Amino acid sequence: MKMDEPPRSQGSQGGEEEGEKSFVVPRPFSLVAELTYQCPLRCPYCSNPLDYGSSEYKRELGTEDWLRVFSQARQMGVLQLGLSGGEPLLRKDLELLVEKATDLGLYTTLVTAGTILTLERAKRLREAGLDHVQISIQDSRAAESDRIAGIKSFDKKIAAAKLVKELGFALTLNFVLHRHNLDRIEEILELAEVLEADRVELANTQYYGWALQNRNALIPTREQLVKAEQAVMNAQKRRKMPMGILYVIPDYYAEYPKPCMSGWGQRTLVVAPNGNALPCQAAGVIPNLELFNIKEYSLEWIWFESPTFNRFRGTDWMLEPCRSCERREVDWGGCRCQAFLLSQDASATDPVCHLSPNHHQIVTVREGVGEEVVSFAYRQFNS
Ligand code: SF4
Ligand code: FES
Repeated sequence: MKMDEPPRSQGSQGGEEEGEKSFVVPRPFSLVAELTYQCPLRCPYCSNPLDYGSSEYKRELGTEDWLRVFSQARQMGVLQLGLSGGEPLLRKDLELLVEKATDLGLYTTLVTAGTILTLERAKRLREAGLDHVQISIQDSRAAESDRIAGIKSFDKKIAAAKLVKELGFALTLNFVLHRHNLDRIEEILELAEVLEADRVELANTQYYGWALQNRNALIPTREQLVKAEQAVMNAQKRRKMPMGILYVIPDYYAEYPKPCMSGWGQRTLVVAPNGNALPCQAAGVIPNLELFNIKEYSLEWIWFESPTFNRFRGTDWMLEPCRSCERREVDWGGCRCQAFLLSQDASATDPVCHLSPNHHQIVTVREGVGEEVVSFAYRQFNS
């Protein structure tokens, strides 16, 4: 539905009628607003697209566009808003966006690298109603953290984390895990405890975009992962984090894939800085996936009706072995972006699954871990 057309009827979601899919489309729960792809950091596992600096993304949505998206999202039932990037603090209208989102009743989370968070800015965000701050830290030690970030940033991140706690926000610390920091997982957890984080996210690197380019440099050994998982379990037993420790598994070492995004088009909407609405942050890599922009289409139409969100929703699209697998509504066939990136077919079973005909690719990568020393390809825009 274009923006100037009447809204669709609620009755058309989910299908009882002939020709409609049997799958009932759920309402979205969270919106990830990628406010900008600009960022001072250069992490080699950045989730932004490889062409993040192209003219396509330099035309960022304006304040009014974002406010309309937030309002539409709330009307659809969205409860959680992630203000992400790049570095969302680079948006001068961030306080206004937070204030309006709060007025709508959205629970707001700022996902930041923390390096440009000042006391004044943090206070203004608090007054605007911001609920929760997630700060990424690359390692427990300054030199190693700065090496991964590609710039000197560790001290500023620590200062930002302390500021966030002093002002009474809920604080989550995000650590992306890989071969170069997994051996320090206990130190990482200690740092999180010292900084009084309410919650910690320990996410093993997922290999899309920049991370896929850097896969050989980042992928850990099985021994590292076994020790890390034990350390995480020990920390979970100590129960120091009020909101817990989230450990995102390294799917290259798993038997089955993760239910990426909890299933395509089931819980989350991502809106890129240029206004394209996507089912996940990486979906732009899938060729022939038509993308719809919130400047032209309502969020409701994009979610319920667009071919983008319906392309891999439910199970009707699945091929074998997923189609007849008893786990098809557990992991939804894994990750569509990973399926495309590794097998050139976004409808294929995620090669992480041991039942996938392309699983040998994962095995080959695993078996080659640590054989060569590879330097990082840092995030940078290559025109
Ligand atoms: Fe999941 Fe498909 Fe593998 Fe079954 S075959 S476990 S549905 S990825
Ligand atoms: Fe796109 Fe998994 S990252 S479906």
